Amino acid sequence: MTRKILVTSALPYANGSIHLGHMLEHIQTDIWTRFQKMSGHQCISVCADDTHGTPIMLRAQKEGISPEAFIAATREEHMSDFVDFLVDYDNYHSTHSDENRELSELIYTRLDQAGHIAKRTISQLFDPEKEMFLPDRFVKGECPKCGTADQNGDNCESCGATYTPTELKNPKSVVSGATPVLKDSEHFFFKLTNFEAMLKSWTRGDHVQQQIANKLDEWFDAGLEEWDISRDAPYFGFKIPGTEDKYFYVWVDAPIGYMASFKNLCDKTPGLEFDEFWQADSNAEVHHFIGKDIVYFHTLFWPAMLDGAGFRKPTKVHAHGFLMVNGTKMSKSRGTFIKARTYLNHLDPEYLRYYFLAKLSSRVDDLDLNLDDFVSRVNADLVNKYVNIASRCASFITKRFDGQLSSDVAAHPLVLECQQAAATIAEHFEQKEFGRAVRDIMALADKANKYVDEQEPWVKIKNPDSAAEVQTISTVALNVFKILTVYLKPAIPTIAAKVESFFNIEPLTWQDSQTLLQGHTINKFKPMIKRIESEQINAMIEDSKEQQAPVAELAEPLKDEISFDDFNKIDLRIAKIVNAEHVEGADKLLKLQLDLGGVTKQVFAGIKSAYQPEQLIGKLTVMVANLAPRKMRFGMSEGMVLAAGPGGKDLWVLHPDDGAEPGMRVK
Ligand code: MSP
Ligand code: ZN
Repeated sequence: MTRKILVTSALPYANGSIHLGHMLEHIQTDIWTRFQKMSGHQCISVCADDTHGTPIMLRAQKEGISPEAFIAATREEHMSDFVDFLVDYDNYHSTHSDENRELSELIYTRLDQAGHIAKRTISQLFDPEKEMFLPDRFVKGECPKCGTADQNGDNCESCGATYTPTELKNPKSVVSGATPVLKDSEHFFFKLTNFEAMLKSWTRGDHVQQQIANKLDEWFDAGLEEWDISRDAPYFGFKIPGTEDKYFYVWVDAPIGYMASFKNLCDKTPGLEFDEFWQADSNAEVHHFIGKDIVYFHTLFWPAMLDGAGFRKPTKVHAHGFLMVNGTKMSKSRGTFIKARTYLNHLDPEYLRYYFLAKLSSRVDDLDLNLDDFVSRVNADLVNKYVNIASRCASFITKRFDGQLSSDVAAHPLVLECQQAAATIAEHFEQKEFGRAVRDIMALADKANKYVDEQEPWVKIKNPDSAAEVQTISTVALNVFKILTVYLKPAIPTIAAKVESFFNIEPLTWQDSQTLLQGHTINKFKPMIKRIESEQINAMIEDSKEQQAPVAELAEPLKDEISFDDFNKIDLRIAKIVNAEHVEGADKLLKLQLDLGGVTKQVFAGIKSAYQPEQLIGKLTVMVANLAPRKMRFGMSEGMVLAAGPGGKDLWVLHPDDGAEPGMRVK
């Protein structure tokens, strides 16, 4: 029976680069998808960038571009990372799209009409300077439990306490440094509680892994809560219908982005029907591949939203663990926080795809990329075992038999054993037990190599009477190689394509594990994969190391670091130089009268080498306005003037210019 299957990976945030942690997920998804396609099912994989929310809005502001331009650039970068890693999505869309806006509005409206939306006023921290509400991550302050400074708004890294941002002592907005104030605003809530019974039975219906079902039971015991789905302007996202300044929280339209990407594909693909996959009684399958950190969204909020809006629910949510490198969390200073592009600059994507294949299971456990093990595993399995089967036999066929395989291997026990493994290996792929599939495949590769070792075709070829035998031995080995290529193809599609052209055959499908190449003419063998050298790994690690600021290279070393609070104490103002004169007996100083917009201050400034007094009158400068007055030999100095430059003749002050007004605060 041909299945109709829609597959997704979690939508990567558009505010950062793809790293190997993301790639674990996309490779797992891609292998599963390619396996389904090879097996003859209609399997469609879609993904998109997750583009909305406060961090992306602020990041674009910081770079001085519109959020639209920012997310467009990231999407290009992400797409080329996936393509170059051989991750083959049928569509890669964006959550900032018309399809997603329409579907989000539709789902929300249906939920609202069915009574699943509540509205009430809540009080939240608000940045009075930036005029925006602050998400937890954008407030910092002292931990209410242990007093450690500079802690996030939701938990303390020092003592592990969790709290709400309003409990922080001396809170500061990360965005502006201002002290946040509490402000009321009406928020919209999704009544998750209305779906408790449905979710409990859905959870027990084999839609999630056992480990996840256990976690869900804990969540049910703790009690479900209403979910805050609105955010106030300014926000980069979709406006909630019927409001002027409220937006969907990014996690509302993010999963709807799965549907939107598929809708976008349907609109350009004749015969592909959106409803067939998403209507409530659809008999198509929907599979979401995600990381363990976003299970709550995918197994509670998402099925409830779909159910409440009259759509089908996911067939299965597949959660994986996190990628570790060399046994610990990826680290920028150790160079193990490896971006997809950095990897690609040094290594072949199929090495990593194979390694993940070998290590992945259906469980939610973390997966370790041990770089030494990676090198030895890939070299041992792919180079020394798998490709070796072909490279040691192919030349006999090419040189001695004009490229022609023999026709008498159908009943050979090794060939039969390899063919018979197809069903078990397919079941491992279906169940995401990729590691088990690899164990079976490599056991067969070992047998094939042992067979060639024992048969010693390189000895037999010297005896003219054994020629036919050598042709048979080589044909057996090459057929085994072809069958194993079928099994490995979901993970190593480019190598598989090289094998197909070596054998001079059509793209291999799963069914081709059961067909044999006999009496068939093959092409000359060309190397299919290089060994990994550990220098390549070292170079990649070096490239991934986050550069420390080159402090030592500054001609004048930096002074001791100051905190943001220290910096924030300095009140910098635009000042107009209303008078400047020489000072009797001083060779560097000029006496300046500075107008701060009403208040005048006297400052002695060491800029005589660069300016004549009359050149300065009427110019603007930046002044440290709250410096304690100092009594100098020539009189009181009530502040400090900032000028930039190496000194001597080159010291620059501001020119009178439209924007700056005396007294303005400098930021
Ligand atoms: N934008 C959300 C997902 C929305 S889905 C409707 C998001 N984005 S993310 O970029 O932070 O993560 C995307 C996926 O990558 C998630 O499934 C996440 O679990 C996974 N991973 C991120 N870092 C990871 C590792 N270090 N290891 C394995 N997977 C990791 O969450
Ligand atoms: Zn603490």
